[in-house]
Amino acid sequence: MGKRKRSNSRKNSKRKKHKKNTKKTATTKKSNFVVIQPDSSELHKVFKQTVRPKSSFTDFLLKCRQILLVGEANFSFTLSLSRKVKEPQILYASCFETFTDLEAKYGDAKLNRKKLEENGAHVYHNVDACKLHENTKCWPTLIKFDGIVFNFPHVGGGSTEEAKEKNQTMVRNFLTSAEPLLSKKGSIFITLRDSVFYKSWNIPQIAKEVGLRFLDKVSFEQEEFLEYQAVRTHPAQREAPKIGNAVTYVMKKQRKKSKKEKK
Ligand SMILES: C[S@@+](CC[C@H](N)C(=O)[O-])C[C@H]1O[C@@H](n2cnc3c(N)ncnc32)[C@H](O)[C@@H]1O
Repeated sequence: MGKRKRSNSRKNSKRKKHKKNTKKTATTKKSNFVVIQPDSSELHKVFKQTVRPKSSFTDFLLKCRQILLVGEANFSFTLSLSRKVKEPQILYASCFETFTDLEAKYGDAKLNRKKLEENGAHVYHNVDACKLHENTKCWPTLIKFDGIVFNFPHVGGGSTEEAKEKNQTMVRNFLTSAEPLLSKKGSIFITLRDSVFYKSWNIPQIAKEVGLRFLDKVSFEQEEFLEYQAVRTHPAQREAPKIGNAVTYVMKKQRKKSKKEKK
C-alpha cells in the first residue's frame, strides 16, 4: 500500500471514530464557538453514576435484618420504629435501668414496653451498652446485628469539659463492645444534637481510635418517628431535649484488605 493510501485510510477511520463518538450529540453553531450538547439520556447516566442520593437514617434502618437498640429509656423510639419495620421481631430494645428504676424514672416506659412486646419486639432491662459482649443472657449470642442504635447517649451532668470526657469514654466503650456484635456489613448509629458541645465529642475520631470506619453523618428525621419522645438522662429536671437539629453518625466495621491491597 502506498504512503498516501495508508494515510487516507487512517484519516477515514479517525473520521468514523469521531462520527461514532458524536453520534448522540447535537451541535449548535454560535458565532465562532461550536457547542457540543451531549444527548440528555447520556447526561442522565453520568448524573446517576456520580450523584447518588444520600441514604437517610430511616433508609439505613429499614435495610437491617436485626436491630439492637441500647440506652432506650422510655422505649418510645423503638415503638416508633416497630411501626415502620415489616416484622417487629427483628427489634431487640434495651435500657440501662432495672425494671423498677425505669418505671420510677420514665412514666411512659411501662406502656411502651407493653405495646412493644405485644408487637413481638424483644425488650431487655439493665443492659450496659459498654458491656454488650458480656450480655450473653439476653439475645441469642449467635445473632449478628445489621444495626446497633444508641440515640442521645449521655451519662448525665452538664456541658462541662469533665462531662465531655466522661461521655467520650462511655461512647468509646460502647463502640468497642458493640463492634463484635455487628454483622459483616452492619452499622452502628449514634444520634446526637448537632451543637458545639456534642460536636466536640468528635465521634468520627473515637470511631477511628477503636478501629471502626466512620461512614457518614446524616440528619435525624424527627418527623419519621412520631411516637418518639426523647428524654433526658435521669435525674435531670429540665424539660425534654430539643432534637430538631440532631444528626446520626454512621460507623462500620473496617473492610478486610484484599490480598492485592496487602501487597
Ligand atoms: C439523654 S438519655 C436518652 C434516652 C433515649 N435514648 C432517648 O433517645 O430518649 C441518655 C440515656 O443513656 C443511658 N445510658 C447512660 N449510660 C449508659 C450505659 N452505659 N449503657 C446504656 N445506657 C446508658 C441513660 O440511662 C439514659 O437513658
